[in-house]
Amino acid sequence: MSDIKKIKDEYLNKLKEDLDFNGVNQIKTDLFGKNGIISNEFKKLASIGVDERKKVALELNEIKNELQNVISKKNKDIDIREINLKLQNEKVDITLPERSFHQGKIHPVSQVIDEIASIFSEIGFNIEEGPDVESEYNNFTALNTPDNHPARDMHDTFYLDNNKEFLLRTHTSPVQVRTMLKDKPPFKIIAPGRTYRSDSDQTHTPMFHQVEGLHIDKDVNMGHLKGCLNYFIKEFFEVDKIKMRFRPSHFPFTEPSAEVDIGYEIKDGKIIIGEGDKWLEILGCGMVHPNVLKNVKVDPSKYQGYAFGMGIDRLGMLKYGINDLRAFFETDYRWLNHFGFDPLDVPSSYRGLSR
Ligand code: PHE
Repeated sequence: MSDIKKIKDEYLNKLKEDLDFNGVNQIKTDLFGKNGIISNEFKKLASIGVDERKKVALELNEIKNELQNVISKKNKDIDIREINLKLQNEKVDITLPERSFHQGKIHPVSQVIDEIASIFSEIGFNIEEGPDVESEYNNFTALNTPDNHPARDMHDTFYLDNNKEFLLRTHTSPVQVRTMLKDKPPFKIIAPGRTYRSDSDQTHTPMFHQVEGLHIDKDVNMGHLKGCLNYFIKEFFEVDKIKMRFRPSHFPFTEPSAEVDIGYEIKDGKIIIGEGDKWLEILGCGMVHPNVLKNVKVDPSKYQGYAFGMGIDRLGMLKYGINDLRAFFETDYRWLNHFGFDPLDVPSSYRGLSR
């Protein structure tokens, strides 16, 4: 039996050495594995006399427990040592300067498009889109615009080929044509997007933004047009009352046609929308011309409705007090930081359109 005590002391000494998990596991197997030293000692018990056996078994159990305790303590120590080592190596250097962080801003045009989409979605309009490069047919012909109309002139419109078959759309109205050709009535859509005209001064840029509106159904009349626009203007400018007037006008694709002005005044150098005795033109509209409906295979004896088109940049300038349209498209970060919007402030009528 003194042999086994020797072995115990030998292994206790081994366990004092600087070991890793593998080293400890090896010792565990040497002692308690299938053919381990201690395991074999237990097997031998069967071959000794009963009295002797009790004594030896007791002793063996004590040795076994002692060794197992030391092994599990050793494992814990290694664990702690490894964690400490990691903590030391992975220390965060709090003296390092912070990384620079730059949050961008939402451009006023994007903001205004989001606001407009939010308002019209609430009253049942879907959002449609069309391409910037449009066919001459969709931009003019299908919209009942005669060949001799001044808008078709090279001075006003950017044509992409000598045959004048393709152009940069001069308004969002071709989306009316695309939408009606694609689906069946009723239609209730808005279509925001970029438009192009050969024009450049403080209030005109060659590229600008419009939003088209189209509502076609069996009983849609001019009263609906008025109600819809009145609602939109009040929501957009976030005012309770609005002064609005319809002025007779002409567009080839609507009959009757009107231009809409809203009342405003200047108080302490600031523009106040909805009050005062000055008028500002903001959009063109009318009842969709029967010829347009025929061109897109909608029966004008069954269906009718209104359309409107307004300048998005113009609305943004009015609402947010920006006085030079050209600055919108100069990509000057100082300007954008001043007039831009927080990306997390998504416009909704629930929490407000704008801050
Ligand atoms: N497309 C017209 C424009 O650009 C606006 C408009 C749209 C007028 C729809 C009537 C109906 O001036």
